[in-house]
Amino acid sequence: MKNIPFCDYKKLYLNHRENYLQIIDEVASNGGFIMQQAKKDFEKELSEFTGCNHAIGVGNCTDGLEIIWQSIGLRPGDEVICSSHTFIATASSIVMAGGVPKPVEIGDDNLICTEAISDAINSRTVGIMPTQLNGRICDMDKIINIANKHKLFVVEDAAQALGARYKGKHAGTFGIAGAISFYPAKVMGCFGDGGALVTNNYDIFNRSHQLHDQGRDVNGDLKSWGRNSRLDNIQAAILSYQLQKYPAVIQRRREIAAYYHNRLSQLNELKLPPPPLEDADNFDIFQNYEFMADNRDELKKYLEENGIKTLIQWNGKGIHQWESLGFTVKLPKVEDFFKKCIMIPIWDYLMDEEVSYIADKIISFYRK
Ligand SMILES: Cc1ncc(COP(=O)(O)O)c(C=O)c1O
Repeated sequence: MKNIPFCDYKKLYLNHRENYLQIIDEVASNGGFIMQQAKKDFEKELSEFTGCNHAIGVGNCTDGLEIIWQSIGLRPGDEVICSSHTFIATASSIVMAGGVPKPVEIGDDNLICTEAISDAINSRTVGIMPTQLNGRICDMDKIINIANKHKLFVVEDAAQALGARYKGKHAGTFGIAGAISFYPAKVMGCFGDGGALVTNNYDIFNRSHQLHDQGRDVNGDLKSWGRNSRLDNIQAAILSYQLQKYPAVIQRRREIAAYYHNRLSQLNELKLPPPPLEDADNFDIFQNYEFMADNRDELKKYLEENGIKTLIQWNGKGIHQWESLGFTVKLPKVEDFFKKCIMIPIWDYLMDEEVSYIADKIISFYRK
């Protein structure tokens, strides 16, 4: 029997240990720990990679999202529409910046439903916040059209989608700004918390820069109130190294996703995500391989008994299901999704025999 963790955090470091030790040694020996060259270099590389004008390394993606909304300037009562199928950080960033999150239904792709966005717009609505979930981008043509029609800001939660593209455009670059996470379990993850915001808008860049560095602008002049949420230089240097290898990492995930699709699409009991090559407009980086499964809890138990760890995301609840946060709305599609969803391992360092073992065991569960 194999023992396959859902995510082997140790491998993130151990697979490139020598190189990382050298990187850490270089940054630390130079004494450039905070707001130094390694951070600037990474920001430049990230803006080039995503094809946007500005990138700012921040403490984590949640801070990045909050800083964006604060830069836009939410006023009390301002509403922002988001998917209920997302991490709590999407909604909390709106609240912490002074606004009100309005979670809505998902469509057949399990991403935010564009009709539900239109239905939720009222005189208090100021923005739409799509989450580019599991490495896949929402229908941005429709979302941008809706936003333009109603003069709303679009801020992308691109925490899970660095490198994902829709019609050639990168996640994070569709609206006024977007934020990306480098949490260790992300496709590109650093050795602790880390994130970035990306934008083509100079005013948002300027204000976000001040907000992330105690109110200081790029020249170090104090211009406003701010906080401390700066990506550490050591993390930035680690991420610069990873960014060079990133296309190959995405490629391996897409290979594994294609393999899972080929093997598992025979099972009517599963609703799988689209395979990598099906939609030429949507380049999915497969941050996660998540599907809906009949008898999900039994499948999870069976896989566990066979040495395969799986994950049910976010305590198995959509945003609107957290009554403790004051939500009262009912969203049946999201609720149904969370009764059936499961994620299986898809890390780039998985061996081929581990991937086939996982597929074998899922098939044998339904065929036994
Ligand atoms: C969809 C989504 N939004 C936001 C975040 C928050 O990212 P971070 O942990 O870097 O703050 C995450 C991280 O898990 C996420 O998956």
